[in-house]
Amino acid sequence: RTLKIGLIPGDGIGKEVIPAGRRLLEALPASLGLKFEFVDLKAGWETFEQQGVALPEETVSVLKSDCDGALFGAVSSPTTAVKGYSSPIVALRKKLDLYANVRPVKTVVSAPKPIDMVIVRENTEDLYVKEETTRDTPEGKVAEAIKRISQRASSRIATIAGEIALRRQKIRAAGSPSIHQGPLVTITHKSNVLSQTDGLFRSTAREALAAPAFAGRVAVEEQIVDSMVYKLFRQPEAYDVIVAPNLYGDILSDGAAALVGSLGLVPSANVGEGFAIGEPCHGSAPDIQGQGIANPIATLRSAALMLEFLNEEAAAAKIYAAVDGNLEDGKLLSPDLGGTAKTEEVVQDILRRL
Ligand code: NAI
Ligand code: MG
Repeated sequence: RTLKIGLIPGDGIGKEVIPAGRRLLEALPASLGLKFEFVDLKAGWETFEQQGVALPEETVSVLKSDCDGALFGAVSSPTTAVKGYSSPIVALRKKLDLYANVRPVKTVVSAPKPIDMVIVRENTEDLYVKEETTRDTPEGKVAEAIKRISQRASSRIATIAGEIALRRQKIRAAGSPSIHQGPLVTITHKSNVLSQTDGLFRSTAREALAAPAFAGRVAVEEQIVDSMVYKLFRQPEAYDVIVAPNLYGDILSDGAAALVGSLGLVPSANVGEGFAIGEPCHGSAPDIQGQGIANPIATLRSAALMLEFLNEEAAAAKIYAAVDGNLEDGKLLSPDLGGTAKTEEVVQDILRRL
């Protein structure tokens, strides 16, 4: 099978880590029967300065018509609004209907407090439909926002969370050690207060996870979002897959990323029907750009995550194992993890372990 992958380095260290992702894919053992074709695509601040748009139409159309998946590095965004500029990744999520944002947060198994969870965030609705209004009243201004929750979006996000839980179990069985016994999905909500919107999310997610594909195979729990934040910090090992509406998922996934040593370790994927974009969680890191010391692991794990959603579990499992091997060994770590290794040395160590 040949997979065509769009490469969108973006700005700053995106240009240093995305090439590492490409080399990793090219270095996968031939026995997997996977070949790759790459197409270089543009987006980001530099692109905006050159072309007046942050996300050229060509990037979107090539991804749509030609690619199976993509790797997106990071883009720098201005701190104040700039006319004509808008975030390319947000636009891509919309244009390609990438309805799920998936963020695994994992330490090595030998860590003092091992963690292995993934947050599955609904990415199309909730408060982020951005339908806000402000009106004047005798008591001053009042601003309101729509929180939209649909059965369709809640059902498909819960379904993909269930699928991820089952797949994680397979990847563990393929030799990736884990702290978990069996697949578990925790539904996040605040339906004690928001009985209609979060109530619909909760009941729809429960229903979706009771489908024959999951019943008896995936354990389902639920938790109110505020107490989840508490438990996320006190007892993070309790979580396997967390599924959440957009806003809670946004906050939980950044909070969870703080549980591991560095932003340079945390991958993500933006997932739609038959398409996935792997994207490291970090930004363009202007403070370390050009020094060759960016941690490539978030990107390498993002490449593996993308492969998971293209149904290439075996290839993904190999990458995860190689990365875990590098981290367990601890001899070639980048400066963000307290080491002195350059990006290139970390990449070479991981490629060797493949
Ligand atoms: P950042 O994630 O770029 O950096 C935060 C800190 O983490 C910095 O000290 C940086 O050196 C370090 N860091 C991040 N990734 C690393 C890696 N792979 N290896 C080693 N150290 C790493 O966030 P910051 O500084 O808030 O934003 C910088 C720029 O990136 C801004 O223009 C911001 O808008 C943009 N940004 C873009 C994102 C995206 O494209 N998805 C996400 C977050 C920020
Ligand atoms: Mg966020």
